[in-house]
This record gives sequence, C-alpha cells and structure tokens, in this order.
Amino acid sequence: MYVLGIETSCDDTGVAIYHSEHGLISHHLYSQTAMHNEYGGVVPELASRDHIRKLIPLIKQTLQESRLQKSAIDGIAYTAGPGLMGALLVGAATARSLAWAWGIPAIAVHHMEGHLLAPMLEAYPPPYPFVALLISGGHTLLVQVEGVGRYQLLGESLDDAAGEAFDKTAKMLGLGYPGGPKLSKLAEQGEQVYKFPRPMTDRPGLDFSFSGLKTFTLNTFNKSQKTEQDKADIAYAFQQAVAETLSIKCKRAIRQTGIKRLVVAGGVSANKQIRAALSEMAALEKSEIYFPRSEFCTDNGAMIAYAGCQRLVRGEQQNLEIVARPRWPISELI
Ligand code: KG4
Ligand code: ZN
Repeated sequence: MYVLGIETSCDDTGVAIYHSEHGLISHHLYSQTAMHNEYGGVVPELASRDHIRKLIPLIKQTLQESRLQKSAIDGIAYTAGPGLMGALLVGAATARSLAWAWGIPAIAVHHMEGHLLAPMLEAYPPPYPFVALLISGGHTLLVQVEGVGRYQLLGESLDDAAGEAFDKTAKMLGLGYPGGPKLSKLAEQGEQVYKFPRPMTDRPGLDFSFSGLKTFTLNTFNKSQKTEQDKADIAYAFQQAVAETLSIKCKRAIRQTGIKRLVVAGGVSANKQIRAALSEMAALEKSEIYFPRSEFCTDNGAMIAYAGCQRLVRGEQQNLEIVARPRWPISELI
C-alpha cells in the first residue's frame, strides 16, 4: 500500500510517500525558517500562506521522484493536529480534497504520533513495547507504547515544552530563530562555570517543568557581564540541565514501567548533548535506546506517511470531514 503523507502543522511543509512493505519511497521538506527568522519566531498567518504556495509543488516533486503515477497511491495521510489552525487547514484541506478527487481514503494523523513512530523509519526499528520521550517545540511527553494507537501518557510538561524553553532561552541570549540548534552550537564553546537546577527531579512523578529553568537562566544572564563567553557558558549550563533532567525522568520511567527500551523523538532529540546523556543513562540501565535520524527528529512528511500507513493497513476508515484540531491530547488517540 502506497501512502502519501502531508505535514503542515507549523513552519515546515513536508511530503513523503511510504510503502507498507518497501518502506520510504521519497520525501521532501521545505523549511520556512528563513522567513520567520526575520520576526524572531513563527508568524502563523505567514506560515499558512507559505504552505499554500509550497504544498502542491512539493507533492508533484515527491510523486515525480517516486516514479509513481498518482493512480498508484492508495491513501493520503495528513497532520490534523496539534498545531497552528491555519497551517493545519492547508494540509488537511489539500489532503482531503486530493483523496476525494483520486477516490482513495484520507486519514487524519496526530502530529505527536508521527514523531513517536519516526524511529520506525530506520533500518533497526524498536520492537514494542517501549517508553517514548517526545521532545518538540510544542510538547514534552513521556508515553508508554504497547503498539500503534496503544499509548499511555506517563508524564508531560506542566508549562513550557523542552523545545520552547530552548527557543525562549536562545532569544534571551540574542540568538535567532529557531533557537534550539543555535543555542546548542553556542554551547559547544561553553565551559562548566554554572550549575543550573534540574526542575522537578527532587520529587516523585514523571511530569516536567521548564519555565523556572528559563527564568533562572535569565537571572544568571542579567547578573553576568554578558560577554560572548558568558553567553556560551550559560548556554552550556542550560543545555546540561535540560539533558540531565530528561535523563533522570527517563530513568524513572524505565524503572517504573519495567520496559527497558527507550525511544526519543521530536525536534529536540536532534540535540547531540541530549542524545549523549540519554544514551549514557540507557547503557547504565541496561536498556536499548532508539532515535530517528536527525532529519526525522524535526517535522517531516515521512513520519506522517508512516503513521497514516499503519492506520490504513489496519483498515481504519474516516468520512469526508476535513479534520483540523489545534489542540488534541495524545491520550485521546486509540
Ligand atoms: O518537532 P519539531 O520540529 O516541531 C514541533 O513539533 O514543535 O521541534 C522543533 C523544536 C524547536 O523548539 C527547536 O528549537 C528544537 O525542536 N530543536 C532543537 C534542536 N533542533 C531542533 N533543540 C535543541 N537542540 C537541537 N539541535
Ligand atoms: Zn513536531
């Protein structure tokens, strides 16, 4: 079964074709980063307009590269939420209309399920069950995964998501958008000067909170001389605090569930120091750890095509409704 996947939940237009037996056939991504960079963050209306401009050409390009006729496509998967309403609507309306015109089913995919299943696109996918740490710009979730659609929420961020904390901290330090990769690059020049708190690790539970860490970082920055080296040292301490906090919570989740297999996905999982800290923890816990390749950590069409394909193969059917849900708790997925 060939499935066309469409991702437009935020500032990346992603399109891919996935085959249920042969795997990923082709994929393309258009990033709007340069456009939003001028404004220091994503401007929702500009994001929607750019998706409108880029989506159809990207679908054509992905089809062309796959050497498939459009008649070969068996279904269309699209990100229906969570995300920016206007941006979601572009993908949802395009996908639903194309599917109707081509006489094939369309399936509404949860963006975080896409992230969660992204490691399945790799040569050695994780077997079920596993614990998943999802760290993106909008969400920080710990989920127990027994199979497709069998998700139990173990913990989540009570305020800022990990990626959001990276972006806001980067903004404070005068770095551009998106802040995560920029802060991470700056941290490479940093040294162990400061020790920042590891929020919510001193009490039981698997929830996260990053907004206090952000304030702590701001206060430290304001008290410093604000030199380039100060900025790098602060970026280093911030990143180290996030990495260790995530490690402590994942270790707890592994011990609590007894599942010695951890999947880490979402934009922040591209971070090298976080990958290293989590890998070290997993080795000490005698647990396996899986990450998607870097380009599938951040938003992409391949993970949506994969997730949609799993659901279509299982015979899931949806009506002609165009589904766009800016807020959509993963716990509502079945
Ligand atoms: O998953 P994603 O592409 O979009 C959402 O679903 O939100 O994640 C984007 C987030 C942004 O906050 C970005 O700054 C962060 O992932 N990110 C990183 C890195 N690469 C992307 N954060 C830290 N280090 C990175 N290397
Ligand atoms: Zn995402």
